[in-house]
Amino acid sequence: MKIGIIGAGQIGGTLTRRLTKLGHEVFVANSRGPVSLAELARETGAKPVPVQEAARAGEVVVVTIPEAKIRHLPRDLFAGVPDDVVVIDTGNYYPRERDGRIGDIEAGMAESRWVEHQLSRPVVKVFNNIYAQHLLERGRPAGSPGRIALPVAGDNKQAKKTVIQLVDQLGFDAVDAGSLDESWRQQPGTPVYTADFDAEGVRRALAQASKQRTPKWQATENSPGTFARPA
Ligand SMILES: NC(=O)c1ccc[n+]([C@@H]2O[C@H](COP(=O)([O-])OP(=O)(O)OC[C@H]3O[C@@H](n4cnc5c(N)ncnc54)[C@H](OP(=O)(O)O)[C@@H]3O)[C@@H](O)[C@H]2O)c1
Repeated sequence: MKIGIIGAGQIGGTLTRRLTKLGHEVFVANSRGPVSLAELARETGAKPVPVQEAARAGEVVVVTIPEAKIRHLPRDLFAGVPDDVVVIDTGNYYPRERDGRIGDIEAGMAESRWVEHQLSRPVVKVFNNIYAQHLLERGRPAGSPGRIALPVAGDNKQAKKTVIQLVDQLGFDAVDAGSLDESWRQQPGTPVYTADFDAEGVRRALAQASKQRTPKWQATENSPGTFARPA
């Protein structure tokens, strides 16, 4: 498959490494431009491209940048990209350590629903609940005992099917975690978050999740305020 990856940090870099090894053609972008990705390109064979090109390069496009920076992406990033191109969101909202306050999420909107609104494009939520290092190292062949499972949430059945196949290729079971509005069940602070459960454990953890955001995952009055998207 052709896969675009926007963000080349811990998760984006890991996916670039894993997906190129699986034989996919990867187009990777960051905020500093293709020249800064020369080393990753040499290592993996991925093609470094500007963000706009990564959004147009793939049958699947992964957006994997810090949550608050989603607002810095071009407004028309996915304009004209065919509807059947699947967009993956790996994001997590870290109001205290990184992102500052995002009012809609604080008010109860699922994090990926907020991302979807920013991108003006439906997304599938996956890879948000596993450490990058584990994504790199802990994939196992299908049927392996204790194979780690990842929840996959989204509103489009066909898009989820594509993502579930990709998750399996990467060495993980996939559990359909329902619609994007249900995706709070896999957000930071929930039982499934960074737990590395198998499929049965993921189903149980999703069922046990509480929508109430625990204090650790809420903005405080000291959190940086929402900043406007640049014009
Ligand atoms: N780290 C983990 O283990 C992990 C696990 C699951 C989910 N996540 C979530 O996945 C997302 C990415 O996390 P990460 O740890 O991979 O982040 P990271 O290591 O900090 O890397 C962030 C990447 O995003 C790029 N970026 C930032 N702003 C951008 C912009 N406006 N346009 C294009 N690229 C931009 C950065 O490029 P430059 O360096 O050029 O600025 C960098 O390549 C976050 O929401 C995080 O919470 C992380």
